[in-house]
Amino acid sequence: MHSRCAVSVCHVFMLVLCLSAAEDFDWTKNNHGSFYYGTFPAGFSWGAGGSAYQTEGAWDKDGKGLSIWDVFSHKKGKIQLNDTGDSSCEGYYKIKDDISLMKDLRLNHYRFSIAWPRIIPTGIKSDHVNEKGIQYYDELIDHLLESNITPIVTLYHWDLPQVLQEKYGGWQNISMVNHFNDFANLCFEKFGDRVKHWITFNNPWSVAVEGYETGEHAPGMRLRGNGAYRAAHHIIKAHAKVWHTYDTQWREKQKGLVGVSLSGDWGEPVDISNQKDIEAAERYVQFYLGWFATPIFHGDYPQVMKDFVGRKSVQQGLGTSRLPTFSPQEKSYIKGTCDFLGIGHFTTRYITHRNDPPGRSSNSYFTDRDLAELVDPRWPDPGSEWLYSVPWGFRRLLNFVKTQYGNPNIYVTENGVSEKMMCTELCDEWRIQYYKDYINEMLKAIRDGVNVKGYTAWSLLDKFEWDEGYSERFGLYYVDFRNKNKPRYPKASVQFYKRVISSNGFPNQREVENWKRKAVEMCSSSNQLLAAEEQRSTAANILRLIHDPLTSHMEMVTEIVVPTVCTLSILISAVLLMFLLRRRN
Ligand code: NOJ
Repeated sequence: MHSRCAVSVCHVFMLVLCLSAAEDFDWTKNNHGSFYYGTFPAGFSWGAGGSAYQTEGAWDKDGKGLSIWDVFSHKKGKIQLNDTGDSSCEGYYKIKDDISLMKDLRLNHYRFSIAWPRIIPTGIKSDHVNEKGIQYYDELIDHLLESNITPIVTLYHWDLPQVLQEKYGGWQNISMVNHFNDFANLCFEKFGDRVKHWITFNNPWSVAVEGYETGEHAPGMRLRGNGAYRAAHHIIKAHAKVWHTYDTQWREKQKGLVGVSLSGDWGEPVDISNQKDIEAAERYVQFYLGWFATPIFHGDYPQVMKDFVGRKSVQQGLGTSRLPTFSPQEKSYIKGTCDFLGIGHFTTRYITHRNDPPGRSSNSYFTDRDLAELVDPRWPDPGSEWLYSVPWGFRRLLNFVKTQYGNPNIYVTENGVSEKMMCTELCDEWRIQYYKDYINEMLKAIRDGVNVKGYTAWSLLDKFEWDEGYSERFGLYYVDFRNKNKPRYPKASVQFYKRVISSNGFPNQREVENWKRKAVEMCSSSNQLLAAEEQRSTAANILRLIHDPLTSHMEMVTEIVVPTVCTLSILISAVLLMFLLRRRN
């Protein structure tokens, strides 16, 4: 995520200068600040989510193979404080506990992912299928369904089997398409009788850019200017293949849906009277969301990506574009492979045009775009460095999806906000505010005619936040990671989200204000509970610390003092004996 926050101080100042222009701009003819009271369409699905590596723990249990994240997080210096997902929330052992939290929230759906190496340890199906892994997901799915919670299942939330990385170079290699298809096919066979909502890939932008371009994420490769485009190309093909597999082999029998979950920040032109800024902002969104959505809905990469990467490649003296091409057959095979679109959205940027002249060493996905990202210093940013709360950007992004991709059915697969590690405050008013405003902008988008069918709060629990380790907490529930039982505590946002769900929206101002007040009142008792628990564990830790030096000190005393006392006693006895003998003589 670091690359996303490469927003320099001077950019911020520059933006302040431009703000008067930006503030006048009103894309929807509505006031940004106005709150819309109303409810969601009947049957709207409310959920929360998490992913395998971020929550399960049990990284080496019951026959699970290694993933690229196990290996990456075990290398020193890759993750904040060298944290790992080895035990994380221990979700693997807490199916029933976590489902009772979901029941308490009255969730309609829960979004989770299947760890590929848990069910196929090497990633290659013909090597071995791990029955214990299948049993775990069977149990999770069955318990969800018994509790009337619909499972929405992601097949790839970043944990590629390590063997595939070592043998083939992971997503740099086209052979991933068939291996992933075998894995997906196995999941359809084993779980498809009960799972009706499948997501092939979660946020492939991150896999491509952070995994193969900047190297901030596993597998940590830095193949600037090429790696991300190549990985994305194979991911898009793998997605299409899996969609066709479902369509031809399972759809008739299982009657489910297969989609993809794409992430996208909204990009707003800094100066809306400047054509170059308007085009740069559009480019920002096309290089982000459009990179994956345009092939999947229209069969090919966005024209602007082909133009920019193509031109820069020529200027670098390359014979062909660094952006790969699809053959005519591939285009028609990929086009239309989406039964619903998952959208993960957290934040917005202001965008201005900036020439990034090509150079052999400096070309990258980022410089290919010819733009600069800016933020408004007044936007709240309670947690992750890159995450500013800009609710109106959400409505714009949803409308963009509607107009660009033929108004598809959308599930919001991720939306939420984090807080910093130091803060163990359960009274998360700022998160309530974020959810309230973002969910409201989604409601406005539905009124604009966008087909949003469901919403997934991200995330149910605090969890392993990739390269940020446990330093950023996105959960509705606080997890005490220092306690080996990983107890969960509700934050105030649980109470608030619960009310939104039970009212299917925002009935009226008085009630909504009341929810907020009550949520904050209620959380103070959970806060006390947590504080007491923390005191107890701090006391236990201090005792352990005190105890340890004491015992070792005592050992030291025994080692030095006992032999010394013994020697002295022998010497004294000898002297005494000699003295007595002499007197007798
Ligand atoms: C998107 C990723 O899909 C998710 O795993 C992560 O928790 C959020 N971003 C927040 O960083």
